[in-house]
Amino acid sequence: MSKLIIEGGSRLSGKIRIPGAKNSILPILAATVISGKKTVLHDCPLIKDVELTLDILRKLGCTVESEGSTVTVDSSGVDSHVIDSTLMEKMRSSIIIAGAIIARMRKAESAYPGGCSLGPRPIDLHIKAFRQMGIEINENYGNLYFNGENLRESDIYLDFPSVGATENIMLAASGLKGKTRIINAAREPEIEDLSAFLNKIGVKVSGSGGSVIEIEGTDEFTDAEHTIIPDRIVAATYMTAAAVTKGDLLLENLCYNHIVPTVSLLERMGAKLLMEGDSSLRIKISKRLNNINVIRTAPHPGFPTDAQSIIMTLSALSSGTGIIIENIFDGRFRHCAELKKMGADISVYGRLAVIRGVMSLYGAKVTAPDLRSGAGLVVAALAAKGQTEVSGVEFVERGYEDIGGALSSLGAKIKKV
Ligand code: UD1
Repeated sequence: MSKLIIEGGSRLSGKIRIPGAKNSILPILAATVISGKKTVLHDCPLIKDVELTLDILRKLGCTVESEGSTVTVDSSGVDSHVIDSTLMEKMRSSIIIAGAIIARMRKAESAYPGGCSLGPRPIDLHIKAFRQMGIEINENYGNLYFNGENLRESDIYLDFPSVGATENIMLAASGLKGKTRIINAAREPEIEDLSAFLNKIGVKVSGSGGSVIEIEGTDEFTDAEHTIIPDRIVAATYMTAAAVTKGDLLLENLCYNHIVPTVSLLERMGAKLLMEGDSSLRIKISKRLNNINVIRTAPHPGFPTDAQSIIMTLSALSSGTGIIIENIFDGRFRHCAELKKMGADISVYGRLAVIRGVMSLYGAKVTAPDLRSGAGLVVAALAAKGQTEVSGVEFVERGYEDIGGALSSLGAKIKKV
């Protein structure tokens, strides 16, 4: 198990380019399976979850080539409908690849994605939607067997605007010559990016970014080239790192509309942020910020649950008291105990956390319980007095490109052992 050793207290400064979004590249890589053609994707983040997804694609029969942050997938040779169970186990979000395989082959097989570190992550909405689309699903010894021979036009109402379920439906519907409508669809920017990609390969998708999405699938696909949108959560992480170290950062390759929830929160806390041109943001912090007041996580355009644990670190160091209400996942406060080891004053009551800001955090040995909490701990370590050892770095690497190297280039004292 690798660790990051961080000597806190360095002020971050310099510029950093935000890579493509993890939550965008994963469904788009899944979508490459549908076309049977060649896809060139730019700005792919060089992270563990992308490596795992590419391994799944290779096992399905795709040819994959990578050069820097450009990945080329040729799915003409796809000859398997089975998602590798070991890889599925490592990355439960890979359930969305089932939708893409069904679109292509009218059948798919995968392991059942079990619980995970964010609490139970059921797939009941995926299953219910698939059944409405005419897909038969059988479960046997923990495996799921999808039969899409009778895939049909449908209107699907989602009880909750699940990101994964919206993507899975969009993917499966892409291979149906007919119309599928999703009502109460997720509105995350990553859904819009998937929709843009599907339109490039020949599917007709409209309404993404809103609550009703219509997909008209096809069986005539084309080669495509696409650039992945910037990662809004990575951007939020660097903004927070600048805030806790009283730093001065220029973040390049941003989409302002996607980061509004974080930017407006930081502004409310007293931070000065300035867009430079269309896609760069300057954040320069010289004072301790006011606390967050109350944050409620919510589906987009509400405050993103993925940024919650990172913002909690900032709240722990800001003046006054902050409250975070986590409405999306159970188990998203597991890093609070680790932050408390560093001197944070946090009380957790179920899905509500009360954070009383302290003047300083102190170096300690802590363990990342999951990806975003791990990022929150790394940010805490940057601001802490003394040395912090963050274990469980493999979680953080699932979503951040060389986080040690990137932070070092901004002046942090950080090494991986
Ligand atoms: C995606 C993101 C994740 C983000 C989350 C919410 C990816 C790879 N991951 O996860 O980073 O935190 O959106 O923005 O894009 N639910 C059900 N039944 C289902 C599906 C979901 O009850 O069938 C529940 C979940 O348990 C959770 C909530 O709905 O409580 C939101 O889940 P969902 O939007 O599906 O998140 P993911 O797609 O898993």
